[in-house]
Amino acid sequence: MKLNDDLEAKFNAQITLEFEASLVYRQLAIEMDLADLPGMATWLRRQADEEIVHANKFIDHLDARGNHPKIGDVSAGEVAPSQDPKQTFKTALHHEQRVSESIRELYRACSEAGDIDSNQLLNWFMSEQIEEEATVDEIVGRLEMTGDDGPGLLRLDAELGKRPQSGTEN
Ligand code: FEO
Repeated sequence: MKLNDDLEAKFNAQITLEFEASLVYRQLAIEMDLADLPGMATWLRRQADEEIVHANKFIDHLDARGNHPKIGDVSAGEVAPSQDPKQTFKTALHHEQRVSESIRELYRACSEAGDIDSNQLLNWFMSEQIEEEATVDEIVGRLEMTGDDGPGLLRLDAELGKRPQSGTEN
C-alpha cells in the first residue's frame, strides 16, 4: 500500500540523511588520512559505504510501496576539520545519535498513521542504530584510554584497518 504524502516526505528526508551520513564519514576518513592514521580512515570509509546501503534500503522500500524516492540536498558541511582521532569519532557518534533520533521520529510517525507495513524495516533500523552507536562509543572509549600513548594508538589504528569491505549495495 502506498505511503501517504507526509510519510513519503519523511522517508525521503531519511534517505537524504543517510547519504549525508556517508559524506560525513568520508570527510572524517579524509581527516584521519591527513593524520597518518590509515586504519581509522579505512574503517570510516567502510562505514561511509554502509550508509549508502542504508539509503538504498529506504529507497527500495519507497519504490516497493509505489512511492517516489528522491534525494534532497546533501552536504558534509557540519564536519569541523579535526585530525584528532578522539574528536573524529565523537563527531561520528553525534551524527549517529542524530540519525537514531530521526529513525525514532519516523517510527512514531508511521505508528500514528497506522502504517504497519513499515514496521519490519524500521525495527531493523532501530536495532542497527543501537549497534552502530555502541560500536562508535566503544572506539571513543578506547581512544580515551589510549591518551597520549602513541604505540597504543597505532595498535588501535591497525585493528580498525582490518574492517572488511562490504560494498554499497544491499
Ligand atoms: Fe545509517 Fe550510521 O546510520
